[in-house]
Amino acid sequence: MSHPVVTAQPAETVAAAAERMRDNKVGSVVIVDHDSRAIGILTERDMIRLAAAGSDASTAKVSEWMTADPDTIAPDVEARAAFASLAERGYRHIPVAEGHKLVGIVSMRDLLRVAMIQPADAQAHEVPKGLEGVVVADTTVGDVRGLEGFYHYRQYNAVDLAKTRPIEDVWQLMFDGSLPTTIAEREAFAADIAPRRVIPAAVADVLPEIARAGEVFVPFDGLRTALSQFAATLGFRPSHDIDHETLRENAMSTCAVVPTLICALWRLRRGLEPIAPRDDLAYAANYLYMMLGEVPAPEHAAGVEKYLISTVDHGFNASTFTARVITSTGADLGAAVVGGIGALSGPLHGGAPSRALQMLDEIGTADRAEPWLRSAVERGDRLMGFGHRVYKTDDPRSLMLREVADSLGGEKMELARHIEATAVRVLDELKPGRRLYTNVEFYAGIVMDRCGIPRELFTPTFGASRVIGWCAHILEQAADNRLIRPSAQYVGPPPPQPVPPITN
Ligand SMILES: CC(C)(COP(=O)(O)OP(=O)(O)OC[C@H]1O[C@@H](n2cnc3c(N)ncnc32)[C@H](O)[C@@H]1OP(=O)(O)O)[C@@H](O)C(=O)NCCC(=O)NCCS
Repeated sequence: MSHPVVTAQPAETVAAAAERMRDNKVGSVVIVDHDSRAIGILTERDMIRLAAAGSDASTAKVSEWMTADPDTIAPDVEARAAFASLAERGYRHIPVAEGHKLVGIVSMRDLLRVAMIQPADAQAHEVPKGLEGVVVADTTVGDVRGLEGFYHYRQYNAVDLAKTRPIEDVWQLMFDGSLPTTIAEREAFAADIAPRRVIPAAVADVLPEIARAGEVFVPFDGLRTALSQFAATLGFRPSHDIDHETLRENAMSTCAVVPTLICALWRLRRGLEPIAPRDDLAYAANYLYMMLGEVPAPEHAAGVEKYLISTVDHGFNASTFTARVITSTGADLGAAVVGGIGALSGPLHGGAPSRALQMLDEIGTADRAEPWLRSAVERGDRLMGFGHRVYKTDDPRSLMLREVADSLGGEKMELARHIEATAVRVLDELKPGRRLYTNVEFYAGIVMDRCGIPRELFTPTFGASRVIGWCAHILEQAADNRLIRPSAQYVGPPPPQPVPPITN
């Protein structure tokens, strides 16, 4: 546990408590009375609630925003039990009290430090299946706060960025840690991207072959293959052997070429010529142009751009984690990105938006929604576009994309809203307490469909933005690397057993 504890008085202002948290680099303060009794806890989450409510931290009192009568644990509780207690209740910190007296505070981070020095078999029981809630790294790229329905890139609300900045600015923020502050800076970044959009000849040569593969064309699989060729062509070297600048160069080239590769592969498969990128078009407009052959309507480019920005990064999701694990081995950036694509391709991660739209088509009309959804959930099926590992409230990306979809209009929107409301009600009834709402995928499909993106390109489009997030994480992982190598608990027949002889 940490000791002494950073504390505050109930009558202090939230701003004063926040300053103390910042000075001491902690994520919470314990509120104590005159007898040093813990009477509340104020965390970063409370600060977000306060900001979201539009309150002024310099006048708001700690007592109004703290969680009163917090759960505490005794100092002699085992680390494993303390971990379980934090994970189960979704806390990051828990005060330690001896009788009434506050003696320390224990955080997820403290407990994970303990876990690291325990033998592997002792830890194996502690880690929840699917690593839910387990903190595996420090990051400054961004985070998701599931209980508040909030996520951020660096220190900015991601939804605010999507509403106010072009994707190139967000890209720069993710790679370099700050937004461009002048038009000249923005233009310099765009000028750096433009030539990198062009597919190198050695890659262009193999694209027709890749696009022909398979009876059913899966463009995201094609992208995976093409990117391997791209990384080899550009001579990407192990991240272990190169400096930050070179790795960043690799990242810039990869993120810039992905949209061009997606469009080229898709067109080739359809017997069409690939369309070269246009330097005078911004990211999203150029993407739609290379795909459909026409400069898109501004509202379509804007809708797609908002979607792209909203999906650049999202905490330690499966594909980001995969990219970081691969980078932790010192492998090259191409390997990490290709691994990320593999993880994102699954329907439980990035493969859902076309399935969500497929569900809308199958339901067809509003009157069929309730029986269709009910029988799907009763059968044990997952409703695509609903539920999230981290969000237990509305997914902020879904709320923003619903707004975008509303503004774009179209006949699917009314049905979608009806299905959303019905599904949330049905899930609440049949899966009580699971807190299942729409996730990013539900309205993403509707926005992309409305902007002319064919369904088979939904997941690759997600990949085109997420590759920026992966690369930001790859750069961060490589800058302060340690091999990520967890343990598993063996649950098979007890070893060692004699190796049986072969019989006829
Ligand atoms: C996103 C997702 C994989 C998160 O999974 P998770 O955190 O591992 O959640 P769990 O699988 O533990 O689900 C918890 C419970 O909610 C139910 N549930 C979760 N999502 C559900 C969904 N979309 N439809 C119906 N039930 C769902 C599960 O069946 C489970 O019920 P149980 O307790 O009776 O077994 C999951 O919600 C899902 O499969 N959603 C549909 C696919 C999708 O939209 N993917 C895009 C993600 S951005």
